[in-house]
Amino acid sequence: MGKFNKPITSFKNRTVLVVGASSGIGFEISKELRFLGRKLIVVARRVDIFEKHFPQNTFLKTDIADENSMDKLFEVIEKEGLGIDTVFWCAAIYTPMSYVDFSYEQAQKITTSNLTSIYKPFWTITQKWIKDRDRFVENPHWIWISSVAGYVGLPGSCAYGPTKSALNNVAESAFVEFKPFNIDISLVCPGFVDTRLTKKNSFPMPFIISPKEASREIFNGLHRGLFEIHFPKKFTVILKMISLLPYRLFFQLTSKLTGRSK
Ligand SMILES: NC(=O)c1ccc[n+]([C@@H]2O[C@H](COP(=O)([O-])OP(=O)(O)OC[C@H]3O[C@@H](n4cnc5c(N)ncnc54)[C@H](OP(=O)(O)O)[C@@H]3O)[C@@H](O)[C@H]2O)c1
Repeated sequence: MGKFNKPITSFKNRTVLVVGASSGIGFEISKELRFLGRKLIVVARRVDIFEKHFPQNTFLKTDIADENSMDKLFEVIEKEGLGIDTVFWCAAIYTPMSYVDFSYEQAQKITTSNLTSIYKPFWTITQKWIKDRDRFVENPHWIWISSVAGYVGLPGSCAYGPTKSALNNVAESAFVEFKPFNIDISLVCPGFVDTRLTKKNSFPMPFIISPKEASREIFNGLHRGLFEIHFPKKFTVILKMISLLPYRLFFQLTSKLTGRSK
């Protein structure tokens, strides 16, 4: 079988947008891309770290959960004629939360940041890729950073897990829909990565890796033309296998994995 996507062997001719670039995985990806791409635009709510690492005209303070803020970002992109042809969508928030000890406000916030807010930018940018074909590289590419938390319903990942399952679904359906337009879609499903996000976890996190290792895995996967880039395999393959089991076994294993079995 051929490659899923056109392998990205060089970013030289690409204008890249990294959403959620101020820490963790997005920051590592952006640091790597500073010297590789034609142009790099990084966005997040906190810009202090950008001031130290990126030239002035390449970062924009943006809150993806606020529609006005997103509209401003697109105004700038339009005004400056930034022909973005590659997007790394890394932004997300997480709070460990169970249905037994639930916060409706928190669940809503997570759902807005991780899921609802993706539609408008995804639609706006991909429409441009379809309608203004000649302005962009041969294969524009959208890379969703999702999570293994989307593979199976894991206790304690309430709101966050469902947003990641939905994101996997978005990527799978968009991959097929956009193929005739030469638009590439990749889905990245990391296991545990040592970032601000996982600092909130109080349980031991198996096979945890550094953001640098995560970014290396992502660039390798893009270089190989993969659709799904998942890592570390020791962990992701176990979860994939659990997702195929009958529910009696499935629940035994997910309880055990999250320290809930008696
Ligand atoms: N760490 C892990 O173990 C792990 C595992 C699987 C998947 N992931 C996924 O990997 C991605 C990156 O996470 P990370 O671990 O690197 O976490 P992180 O260090 O907390 O980074 C999250 C990034 O998202 C940005 N962000 C969050 N809300 C935003 C908003 N409303 N507007 C704009 N930017 C926003 C943050 O910037 P500001 O706060 O400055 O806005 C930050 O740059 C996420 O999609 C996460 O779900 C992480």
